[in-house]
Amino acid sequence: MIFYFSATGNSLYAAKSLDRETISIPQVTDLPRLHFEAERIGIAAPVYGHEMPQMVKEFIRRAEFRTEYLYLILTYGNRHANAVELAERVFREAGKKADYIRTLLMADNFLPAFDMKQQAALDKHVEEQLAEIRGDIEAKTRKIEEVTEEDRAAHENYLRTVGFRPETIWADFDFTDRCIGCGLCTKVCPAGCIHMEGHRALRTGGNCQACMACVHVCPEMAIKVNPVLGFQEPDPEARYRNENVSLTELVEANWRKKKPS
Ligand SMILES: Cc1cc2nc3c(=O)[nH]c(=O)nc-3n(C[C@H](O)[C@H](O)[C@H](O)COP(=O)(O)O)c2cc1C
Repeated sequence: MIFYFSATGNSLYAAKSLDRETISIPQVTDLPRLHFEAERIGIAAPVYGHEMPQMVKEFIRRAEFRTEYLYLILTYGNRHANAVELAERVFREAGKKADYIRTLLMADNFLPAFDMKQQAALDKHVEEQLAEIRGDIEAKTRKIEEVTEEDRAAHENYLRTVGFRPETIWADFDFTDRCIGCGLCTKVCPAGCIHMEGHRALRTGGNCQACMACVHVCPEMAIKVNPVLGFQEPDPEARYRNENVSLTELVEANWRKKKPS
């Protein structure tokens, strides 16, 4: 059993590659009871400002895992810094202990800094990394990836220069007049915070995770990422989705449909 949170498919692809039973965190996060039991339980999530998305942290805090082996895969695109240590702390503060934590380098979907065409074309040796991880999980290897002083310094530097929680600083998007009302953005938002008003998409809820799924998926490039702290999109026309994940899978993973009562 593996849980995942994924805006553009990287963590979903990692989850699919590691276990047959995949469960999307946005689809279970509202359940009153989060008790799960399996021989191995995994979580795959992206790194945002070297941390896990808020929703993933909240899930780890609330869930009860009955398992012999609890593992975490942190997908990232450029620099994980001390993400492993920061995640370990989340488990510890929730009274839990992960047996295995590892980072997995994939395409970087962070629009304010990277060109998605370039990212999609880079070979980051994902399959090789996944094969190693698969072997470790199969063998129930107990290992937390090492964090160096350099990693810690990178995060300290990030806090000094950026200094905000990722979801507060990186969620500065404008829903512009280019919107054609297709509603796709409402269906890939894992927080359910985009709604249609007539034929226009609007962000209404306050739970945005800054994942940028809405921006990546918009066929009209109608959601504009505003420059923040000198970060300006290198290519506002280039968008990303993991090549092994379909749009339907992303919608199934993230659409916070209101269940009929
Ligand atoms: C708001 C935001 C912040 C990010 N911060 C980092 C970061 O600090 N370091 C990094 O290497 N990648 C960072 N990334 C890139 C993602 O972690 C990476 O592309 C991840 O694999 C995306 O997974 P997904 O497709 O499952 O959403 C960030 C992405 C976003 C949207």
